[in-house]
Amino acid sequence: MMELKLGKDEILENYRDELTDAEIYAALARVESNDKLREELLKLSQYEVSHAEFWKFIAKQAGIDVGGIKPSRFSVTFSVLIRRLFGLGFLVKLRESAEVEAIKRYGEMVRRKALGPYTDRLREILLDEVSHEEVFKEEESRFEAFIDNIRDAMYGMSDGLVEVLAAVAAWRPSSPTPPCS
Ligand SMILES: [Fe+2]
Ligand SMILES: [Fe+2]
Repeated sequence: MMELKLGKDEILENYRDELTDAEIYAALARVESNDKLREELLKLSQYEVSHAEFWKFIAKQAGIDVGGIKPSRFSVTFSVLIRRLFGLGFLVKLRESAEVEAIKRYGEMVRRKALGPYTDRLREILLDEVSHEEVFKEEESRFEAFIDNIRDAMYGMSDGLVEVLAAVAAWRPSSPTPPCS
């Protein structure tokens, strides 16, 4: 019996999250018209697929069946919707917080060596997630400059429109209640 300091639910949850991330990036690539961005998204998706495979392997080691596990349709649809309705900037924020979430979770597991002999591979995966977060952080700083320009342009607009734009600009996808739930 392998030494895993991780419950069955946790293993399945990590597997499902990686499957979902893979599907999110694949779905975003399908609707992306910018060639460079599409390529980047496909690359991210492939990384997440390999992470999912790792969790599938861990589950197998622990004698857990992953047959019934599917990616979260809601998260995939939600991400594509955000991209379509609010544009790249908001999607970037949403994905950044998802990657940070994974970094925290995996960091904690690496620290307590929850995966025994497979901790090294988990550390590599953790570094992948850090580089994913970097991708989005870079995009985000570009987006923030864009928002600043909008703020400057807002002087002179009607009060109602300013309020709407300000609310949109201040919204953080990491907050517990996204606007469309
Ligand atoms: Fe991942
Ligand atoms: Fe990632």
